[in-house]
Amino acid sequence: MKNITVIGSGTMGNGIAHTFAQNGFNVSLVDISNEALQKALQTIAANLDRQLKKGTIDEAAKAATLANIKIYTDAYAGASDADLVVEAATENREIKLKLFKELSDLCKPEAILASNTSSISITEIAATTNRPDRVIGMHFMNPVPVMKLVEVIRGYSTTDEVTNSIMELSTRLGKSPVEVNDYPGFVANRILMPMINEAIYTLYECVAGVAEIDAVMKLGMAHLMGPLQLADFIGLDVCLAILNVLHKGFGNPKYAPCPLLVNMVMAGQLGVKSGAGFYQYAAGSKDLVVAKKFWN
Ligand SMILES: NC(=O)c1ccc[n+]([C@@H]2O[C@H](COP(=O)([O-])OP(=O)(O)OC[C@H]3O[C@@H](n4cnc5c(N)ncnc54)[C@H](O)[C@@H]3O)[C@@H](O)[C@H]2O)c1
Repeated sequence: MKNITVIGSGTMGNGIAHTFAQNGFNVSLVDISNEALQKALQTIAANLDRQLKKGTIDEAAKAATLANIKIYTDAYAGASDADLVVEAATENREIKLKLFKELSDLCKPEAILASNTSSISITEIAATTNRPDRVIGMHFMNPVPVMKLVEVIRGYSTTDEVTNSIMELSTRLGKSPVEVNDYPGFVANRILMPMINEAIYTLYECVAGVAEIDAVMKLGMAHLMGPLQLADFIGLDVCLAILNVLHKGFGNPKYAPCPLLVNMVMAGQLGVKSGAGFYQYAAGSKDLVVAKKFWN
């Protein structure tokens, strides 16, 4: 595998492109928004500068990584030569089903089509394509260049050959892949999202404030980040979309999203990417400024 196409250049897409490019792959980064692509290139350059400062890469590696990435707004130009496509577009079932149908028509027959979806069924995505046996979940964690885990999700029809090749590829990227089966939320989000939702309910029911809830989980459970701050980093719209998939997929009310989360998403308070969520952020920065007050 040499040519990798990443579809979607948002929070995850830019990190996935960065990681493949840094490991010597030719990366085509595709987005419907040219603005998102430009922002992604800036983010990748800034993150490479951070690695440079830390001494984990040198100037030559930074230049080589950037040279390995080409950007496209036209999926055909970006994906027709791909050996592997990693889709990281918006977490929306209709968008992904449409994208995979188009990708299966325009990619080489031997190309593997992977999705970075947090929760949408790989089996359902695969069924829209002409190669369900070559469709798989490749679920990277945020921030991609730093986090070790890749949750590798086998759809109902995914072959051993494709699964083994994605496990090996993830290892070549310096990641630690873990193979799981395709049920709503897979493993990571089936466990993480109910915890985040419960933290939001704890706030909604005035049991404690934002900073207090996060402090309990950081100090008491040795979590590096509290669940509300983590929700801001993931994106509250993404959290809501995943909870809706769990709720619908299992038909169990325990996954129903907290009404406060629903309200915040409707109000456009999406966390770091919108500048405000459970915390307020300085413009264009991930640096946490202040925990918001939800009640007196
Ligand atoms: N945010 C996280 O922490 C996280 C972690 C793991 C997995 N994921 C998953 O990764 C995927 C992307 O999430 P994100 O947080 O990067 O979203 P995001 O909103 O930051 O970015 C999504 C990008 O997809 C683009 N897009 C939408 N439709 C497109 C199309 N048809 N073709 C090309 N580009 C398109 C948008 O313009 C946008 O730039 C989702 O499936 C999400 O569930 C997210």
